[in-house]
Amino acid sequence: MSRQSVVGVAGELAPGQRKLAFIEGRSIVLFNIDGTLHAVDNACPHNGASLASGKLEGCMLRCPAHGLSFDVRTGCMPGTGGLSVTTFPVGIVDSKVVVSIDEPNATPSQARAGSATT
Ligand code: FES
Repeated sequence: MSRQSVVGVAGELAPGQRKLAFIEGRSIVLFNIDGTLHAVDNACPHNGASLASGKLEGCMLRCPAHGLSFDVRTGCMPGTGGLSVTTFPVGIVDSKVVVSIDEPNATPSQARAGSATT
């Protein structure tokens, strides 16, 4: 069973923007990629560096420590195999951004940044 936590309000992140959020001791980074919100763990699976300040190119986030890149939509590195960063489902509920933290590596988040769903 997942726990849902409010981390912001719908529409606060424009495409290309990011936001660091803290949920029950976890550090999570939210990204707006072309109008869709995605959430990833703020710890690189390679050696734990913070991904919050990584360079974003399209949907690819480059770790500032050693340069590995991860698709923030899936958490996966390009190609087959490799490391993957934990992703979290994101939704919009009553105009609030909600992250489910007990379902790591679930299907890619699908929340539209400015839409309201229930
Ligand atoms: S800690 Fe991220 S690539 Fe090494």
